[in-house]
Amino acid sequence: MSKSGFVPHVVPGGATELPRFASGRDVAIQMRPDQPVYCFRPQVLAADMDAFTSVFPGKTAYAVKTNGDPLVMRALAAQGMSVFDVASPPEFAAGRAVSPRSELLYMHPVKAQSDIRLALEQYGIRVMAVDHEDEVAKILRIVNALDLDPEEFTLFVRIASKGEAAYELSKKFGAAPAHAAELLQRIHNIGFRCGIAFHVGSQVEDAGTFERAIATAAEVRDAAKVPIVELDIGGGFPSVYGTDPRRPAPVMPPLPDLMASVLDSVRRHGFEGVPLVAEPGRVIVARAFSVIVRVMLKKGQRLYINDGIWSSLSDSWTGKLLLPVNHIPDPARRRRSGDPGKMMPFRIYGATCDSVDVLSRPFYLPETVDTGDWIEVGHIGAYSLALRTRFNGFYPDTFVEVAEPFVAPEFIPHASEPHPRAVHDPGPRSDTRGEDVIAPPAEH
Ligand SMILES: Cc1ncc(COP(=O)(O)O)c(C=O)c1O
Repeated sequence: MSKSGFVPHVVPGGATELPRFASGRDVAIQMRPDQPVYCFRPQVLAADMDAFTSVFPGKTAYAVKTNGDPLVMRALAAQGMSVFDVASPPEFAAGRAVSPRSELLYMHPVKAQSDIRLALEQYGIRVMAVDHEDEVAKILRIVNALDLDPEEFTLFVRIASKGEAAYELSKKFGAAPAHAAELLQRIHNIGFRCGIAFHVGSQVEDAGTFERAIATAAEVRDAAKVPIVELDIGGGFPSVYGTDPRRPAPVMPPLPDLMASVLDSVRRHGFEGVPLVAEPGRVIVARAFSVIVRVMLKKGQRLYINDGIWSSLSDSWTGKLLLPVNHIPDPARRRRSGDPGKMMPFRIYGATCDSVDVLSRPFYLPETVDTGDWIEVGHIGAYSLALRTRFNGFYPDTFVEVAEPFVAPEFIPHASEPHPRAVHDPGPRSDTRGEDVIAPPAEH
């Protein structure tokens, strides 16, 4: 049992039943938790997986990095997921633990030699990504050392693609078109099967990003003039977050429309008939978790909560995502000030003593929110559990299962309300991760 008296988080291979509740509100009122509590919604996960696979006609490989928790992996496998996009030996093991015959696509473009050997020898992995000739040489050495036939392998050349996404990844990985064409020829001449892959970044904010990436893939294919056995369109499909009325909202079509336009680009650029692969993460798992956090202290329009960027909320910080939230007032608090119908942006300070532990986007909550209340933060299933740290001794790890989907109230912001920063802080300073983070010297 955990400190809270509830079943601790499941461990790989363990079969722990989670306590069940109807809603996030019930969790807060019944448990009165002082530590964050993750609310897992397996029905939402299953529905969102089906929503993706029903509109994507190719092979769907769940991106394990997004949330490789055994709870998620087991639920996905039970729903029929049997292909995983993996990047490391623990991710190989996570895929095989829930689905012993699952196909593992090793799509990290820069891999350790010992990991490649393990992948080929122990896990039978035959699909990998590369974006440089030295990576091809590394793989070839191990293929030869193990006396394997290159024809068994598909190597995807990851191309650089630039676009609008909350996370832009093209600066780190991907070969420019001419280089990618050369790599394909090299791979083909060795005897490997050739694929083209791109990853447009996470939480794509512009539907044209996929079109541009597919156009680049076609350019590379035409220059390389080698048979392309598969096209991998990566991840990046957006989930649903809040919109801040003070900022322009990205307008994204719903998933079926976005997918229809991606498939249209695939056809127009001559990839019709080429088998497709996708590596979605966020769009499948984001809505499956919320976290119940507690307000430790209210100072005007600042709320200090028991979670933050070093625990479950770094994704919202880095990606500048406005998270949907529900206020759960503590019934034990008798007196409150303010108007419960007036929604206001509150600046959110995290649990650690680190001065950068401040969310880059506010929570919109009723003016009456106060110390001791709970907030259910929705849609945190992607890049949250996996990014928790033990920094400052804080590590949320209590899980429950919740039946009802998370629904945030439509907020009606008061246009006259100033941003909390304008009230309390000297002004924003740019930070490498969170845009609006004030960055005085860290107070670790
Ligand atoms: C290579 C690759 N594939 C797939 C994904 C999953 O992306 P998303 O969660 O945006 O769908 C990522 C995430 O960064 C990635 O790097």
